[in-house]
Amino acid sequence: MQKILPLLRDPASKTSFHLEGDHLISENGQKYPIINGLPRLLTPTKTAEEEKVRQMMQKFYEQFTFPGYDGIDSPGILMDKAGKSGFGKWVDEAISPFATVLEVGCGTGQMTNFLGLTQTRTVIGVDQSIASLTLGKGFRDRFGLHNVHFLQGNIFAMPIKENSMDVVICSGVLHHTPDPKGGYLELLKLVKPASPEQGRRGGKILIGLYNTYARIPLGIRKMIFTSTGNAFSSLDAHMRRKDVDQSKKEIWFVDQYKNPHENWHSVDEVLGWFDQSNVKYLSGVPDIAGKIPGEEAGMKLFEEHPRGSAFTHVLKQLGWMFTIGREGGLFVMIGEKK
Ligand SMILES: C[S@@+](CC[C@H](N)C(=O)[O-])C[C@H]1O[C@@H](n2cnc3c(N)ncnc32)[C@H](O)[C@@H]1O
Repeated sequence: MQKILPLLRDPASKTSFHLEGDHLISENGQKYPIINGLPRLLTPTKTAEEEKVRQMMQKFYEQFTFPGYDGIDSPGILMDKAGKSGFGKWVDEAISPFATVLEVGCGTGQMTNFLGLTQTRTVIGVDQSIASLTLGKGFRDRFGLHNVHFLQGNIFAMPIKENSMDVVICSGVLHHTPDPKGGYLELLKLVKPASPEQGRRGGKILIGLYNTYARIPLGIRKMIFTSTGNAFSSLDAHMRRKDVDQSKKEIWFVDQYKNPHENWHSVDEVLGWFDQSNVKYLSGVPDIAGKIPGEEAGMKLFEEHPRGSAFTHVLKQLGWMFTIGREGGLFVMIGEKK
């Protein structure tokens, strides 16, 4: 905790903390407890209406801890999972071993712990769900990942200092909030800007969202499941997988088909967020306009990729119905703060 204290701030007053026993105390005297090793830094979202949605989502994710942890009981299995998905492996390869990394909406912290297997990094996972964070912290403790830290916090009132992070990751989260763009802008404040004097590129932001086009088949299946009392759940490709445990499939099903709040987004929408907030587009997963040389064996996420046009994006995203659409339709866009 002491190690990451300079990176933390009181989400309410935005002042620094000091540690006193099992409390974090801000400069204006606000006290936040640390319970079972998890600092409780969750404060409400700005408007009462948005806070109501957040609380509903917190209740949901306190009950359904996502992603499921069954069978994830060693660093080797985490590495194996990242290798199979490709994405986790490419993120790991792109991030410097000395980076300070923040994962927001880390859920059960599988990505946070995976990135922390490189123990020269500092990796922080923030989520609102104590049940999920407890699972992440359990893994961290079992495998002695002292460079990994978990905190309870709210995307819209982050307990992290501005301009302090080399990399911020937020995947599968903002579409469950009432203001995804507002959440993105809050997270961007935490990313280090470029420093041309020191020859340093800006920090990176990775945003994973449900894609409007890719999610159409899932939307149709959702209607079928709702009207048939969840019969035919094997219409979902993930539910048919032989390599996933039953309990993980059940959490997946609830998360995908019974989630109380979700929005869908497009490539051009996120490119618009980047353009309006002084962020350079680097890459997308899946790619949005082709690969660059040297990517035969995997993607180089922090190198600049072609952007394509609005027309080619529509064609790409229609194709995603038959690829990523089979596994929830999540796409990730990666940008660099200028
Ligand atoms: C679908 S899970 C994604 C977990 C993980 N990022 C992944 O990709 O597997 C969404 C997570 O976002 C968290 N979340 C949603 N709204 C949040 C908020 N306002 N502040 C903090 N966490 C939030 C939930 O508690 C939940 O753990």
